[in-house]
Amino acid sequence: MTETAQPISIGLDIRPLTPTIGAEIHGITLGGTLAPNVVRGIRDAILKHKVVFFRGQQRLDEASHQAFGALLGPIEPHPTAPALDGTEYVLDIDGKRNRASAWHTDVTFVSAFPQFSVLRGVVIPPVGGDTVWANTAAAYASLPAPLRALADQLWGRFTNAYDYAGTRVTQDAAREQYHREVILSTIYESEHPIVQVHPITGERALILGHHLDRLIGFNSADSRRIVEVLQDHITREENVVRWRWQQGDVAIWDNRATQHRAVDDYGNAERIVRRVVIAGPVSVGIDGRNGVTRSSAPQAKAA
Ligand SMILES: [Fe+2]
Repeated sequence: MTETAQPISIGLDIRPLTPTIGAEIHGITLGGTLAPNVVRGIRDAILKHKVVFFRGQQRLDEASHQAFGALLGPIEPHPTAPALDGTEYVLDIDGKRNRASAWHTDVTFVSAFPQFSVLRGVVIPPVGGDTVWANTAAAYASLPAPLRALADQLWGRFTNAYDYAGTRVTQDAAREQYHREVILSTIYESEHPIVQVHPITGERALILGHHLDRLIGFNSADSRRIVEVLQDHITREENVVRWRWQQGDVAIWDNRATQHRAVDDYGNAERIVRRVVIAGPVSVGIDGRNGVTRSSAPQAKAA
C-alpha cells in the first residue's frame, strides 16, 4: 500500500493503492450533509481511481447510507431483490444467502444499469471475504489493436438467469433458494455493446462479467472462448485491487468502468455488507447505438 498522498484542490486526502485502480480517502465522515465541493471531490476520485475506500465509517447507518448515496445521484432499488426492512433502497448482502463471488458488473441484465455502487461493511469475518475490483477501461485501453477492433464490434446478451450453479463454490440450499426465489423472481434480458462509452468520462470500457449469457452472432463455444480472452485482460493482476474489509469500511465504485467479485473463502463465518446504487443511463456503444432491455418476464411460481 502506497503512502503517497495526492491532495486535490478541495483538500481531499487521496492515497492511491495501485497505479491502475483503487484509492483510500482519509479524513472524511460520510453522511447525507456533506458539502457539495466535498461530494464533487469524492465523485471525481471515483471516476479517476474507479473504486475508493473509506475506513472507520461506523456512524453510517441505513438512513445516512441512503442519504449519502443520494448526494452522488438518484438512488434506485434492485430490480428483483427487496430492500432491507425499514429502508427503500438498501440491499442486504448476507453471505448466508448471497456471495457474489463471480466477476461481474452490477445489474447489467437491464439496459440502464447503475453508475455507482456504495457498499458498507456491516459484519466482516475475522479473516477472508475480501472484495476484488478490476478496471475495465484500462483493460480495453491495453488490448492489442486487432483484439480491440474485434471487441468494438461485439454485442452481448445479458440476463440475471445466468449459470449460477456452474460457478458456485459449495452447494448450499439456502443460497440456491434465495437465488431461485428472489434474484430470479423476474427474468431480465438485455443486449449491450461490449465496448461502451462511459456516460461521464467518455472513456471506453469493456462490459462483460457474469450476467453475460452469450455474445450475439456466435455459437456458445466460440462465445465462451472470445469472452475468456477479453476477460483475462480485465482480471490481470496489474489491473486489480483487493480490499481487506474492516467493519465500518465503505467502498464506492464506478460501476460503468469496473468489475468486482467477493472472495468466497470464509466458510460459515458471518459476512454482511449493504449496498445502495446510483442510477445510470442506458448503455451506449462507440457507434452511438444504445443497449436495450429485451424482456422482463415474471417467473412462474413453483407450486
Ligand atoms: Fe456486485
